[in-house]
Amino acid sequence: MDRMFFYAHSGLRYLVLLAGILAFAYCVFGLATNRPFDKGGRILGASFAGLLHLQVLLGILVLVTRIYYPALIGHIVMMVFAAVVAQLAMSLNRRRPQPGFTLPVVGVGVALILIIGGIMAIGRGVFTTTAM
Ligand code: HEM
Repeated sequence: MDRMFFYAHSGLRYLVLLAGILAFAYCVFGLATNRPFDKGGRILGASFAGLLHLQVLLGILVLVTRIYYPALIGHIVMMVFAAVVAQLAMSLNRRRPQPGFTLPVVGVGVALILIIGGIMAIGRGVFTTTAM
């Protein structure tokens, strides 16, 4: 069971990163071409934030089924911040009278940096998988 959660958590990282990169690229393009915020930006941003939340949930399951060590604190704090920043950026942007691409670019960008830092905090590479 612990292996199942671990591998699911390890693998889902690629989907989270892909969703984040797609959302970031789309929003940077929208910002650069001065377009109004649209459905594409909303869907990509919400997909990234949603997958990130699912990953946090899986992470908690991994945490309670595997051996704890102190370096995990850095991983967890950075990942929780990443999820909060991504969600806040999308939610605040939606509530604005005129939603734009600036807030999503900043939110998704900061979240991606935190995710990369969080993976490195436990001595793993962004694209490396631990064999068990
Ligand atoms: C609060 C949220 C999270 C918790 C509690 C958590 C917890 C954990 C735990 C306990 C491990 C196992 C470490 C080990 O056994 O050495 C782990 C590994 C890992 N986590 Fe998280 N995690 C969280 C969020 C995330 C997020 C958001 C991502 C990426 C999007 C992520 C990516 C990874 C990766 C890549 C590994 C290493 C997998 C491997 O070595 O194959 N985690 N996490």
